[in-house]
Amino acid sequence: MGNIAVCPGSFDPVTLGHLDIIKRGAKIFDEVYVCVLNNSSKKPLFTVEERCELIRQATKDLPNIKVESFHGLLVDYAKQKEAKVILRGLRAVTDFEYEMQGTSMNKVLDDEIETFFMMTNNQYSFLSSSIVKEVAKYHGSVKELVPKEVEAALKEKFNG
Ligand code: PNS
Repeated sequence: MGNIAVCPGSFDPVTLGHLDIIKRGAKIFDEVYVCVLNNSSKKPLFTVEERCELIRQATKDLPNIKVESFHGLLVDYAKQKEAKVILRGLRAVTDFEYEMQGTSMNKVLDDEIETFFMMTNNQYSFLSSSIVKEVAKYHGSVKELVPKEVEAALKEKFNG
């Protein structure tokens, strides 16, 4: 069995910032399971299936990345995959408190699973799915911020 990591998130939609973390993770771990989960404090624009499909398209050239969704606790998903690591990106200090809460909760739920953080590339430190949706909603260009499949999907959501 290799080193397996789970990279969880809402990914509503996936951005180049997320992909930077996922792809760098795929160089470190034998397998990375990207898991689209529900965040109960967010109301998503894309369905879970749409979100998975957009990530699949953007990572199709990397065979050690698998994309799935899960309804339930992240630690239960990680256990199911026999993953010992949860991989998350950290942008700025503002992410710290939020990540500390989730990571500490996961540690209480399952002490065997460790969370690893990677600093997001500086180029994407301001980037979030929310800011991308805000810009796309008012027909601004998000070309530099998301993969081309996501750009097209956002156009369809807001124009179509
Ligand atoms: O991209 P996000 O919204 O910051 O990701 C948060 C996410 C989906 C990883 C988190 O809300 C989560 O793990 N949800 C699944 C339910 C769970 O396990 N909750 C307890 C730990 S926060």
